[in-house]
Amino acid sequence: MKNEIGNFKRTILKPVCILSTIAFSAFGTSLCEAQEQQPSTPVIDPNDNPKIDKEIVDALNKRYGVHPGFRSNHAKGIVVEGSFTATPEAAALSKSPLFTGAKLPVTVRFSDAGGLPHVPDAAALAKPYGMSIKFHLPNGVDSDIVLNSLKFFTVATPEDFRDLQLAAATSPPGEPRSPQFEAFLKSHPSVEKANATLGTPASFADEQYNGLDAFVFINKAGQKQAFRYIIAPEKIVHLSKADASKQSADYLMEELPQRLANGPVIFHIKAQLAAPGDQTKDATQPWPNDRKVVDLGTVTISKTVADSDALQKKLLFTPGRLTEGIELSDDPLIPARDGSYAVSFKQRSAAPKPTRAAAKTNQPPPPGP
Ligand code: HEM
Repeated sequence: MKNEIGNFKRTILKPVCILSTIAFSAFGTSLCEAQEQQPSTPVIDPNDNPKIDKEIVDALNKRYGVHPGFRSNHAKGIVVEGSFTATPEAAALSKSPLFTGAKLPVTVRFSDAGGLPHVPDAAALAKPYGMSIKFHLPNGVDSDIVLNSLKFFTVATPEDFRDLQLAAATSPPGEPRSPQFEAFLKSHPSVEKANATLGTPASFADEQYNGLDAFVFINKAGQKQAFRYIIAPEKIVHLSKADASKQSADYLMEELPQRLANGPVIFHIKAQLAAPGDQTKDATQPWPNDRKVVDLGTVTISKTVADSDALQKKLLFTPGRLTEGIELSDDPLIPARDGSYAVSFKQRSAAPKPTRAAAKTNQPPPPGP
């Protein structure tokens, strides 16, 4: 794997179709077919560990089964489009080209958690919900933010993420938890603590999404500031348990296009700023609520795309796809995320175009809690 994607190490290729087709021959696909969407390239960090990246995707496949053409995690999703405009406060924190104040086109994917393309949207396994944003910069380069609806993450290391999937895979649905799964949860209390923060939103537009991993801003004067992303909706609306149980299997996927037909959906991208001494390497530990939160700008989602299923297969959102002015922190999850998303992307890119209807015909029972 390392050899195949070594050329991409912390590089972002320009979206010239001919170049990306050559680059992607290792992935068995040309990303310039069909949609007018910039090609997605993997991001691999210098301290990536390819062994754990593969073990993570294998563990997700063991837990959820392999569904050709779908993501090994956050398999069920919908793609929409809009724009982002930054505030002057963002430009003061970072010299990133994201924050010049120019209106940038964005592609956004909302998703259910887990590797099941048919998971009912209100099911426990569909949580946390995901939001991924791809910013298209004027120079043809893209940058991503990948968030979910947890308030803090379940585990602090890539090894624990792998072992959580393996432990959950031993626990058949509708039965008491397996001793292995019980033991993992007992030794990692952050898993149940984090999951207890989750709600069931009325709409993907009515949820708050959090970056959880810390990154570092660098401004024009060279000053550094650690931060975590928060993406806030106009209002958070969570359903009661009773109302959640009445929702149809695809209620979130169906509601968003209906809502967009009546007008745009607005989110604010914010940064929670670390105070001196706040740790940045453990995503299970949120910073205190009194830390300053700065509004970085507005995302306006205005339309659906013609073929969301085809487009989402082609897209790769990865948290380390950064610009100048934003750097990785010492959080060990980020290199493992960049690496395992690339492994999952390679796996799903090799399969024919998926449809959720096809995936429903041959589904294993959903394992895990
Ligand atoms: C060690 C920690 C983690 C690992 C190993 C991991 C692994 C994965 C993998 C393998 C995928 C499939 C990628 C693809 O096929 O494109 C994925 C997707 C995703 N993950 Fe993670 N994940 C981790 C932590 C997180 C965290 C902390 C968040 C949110 C803050 C998150 C949010 C998402 C989202 C939203 C997607 C769907 C991306 C898309 O829309 O394409 N993950 N994850």
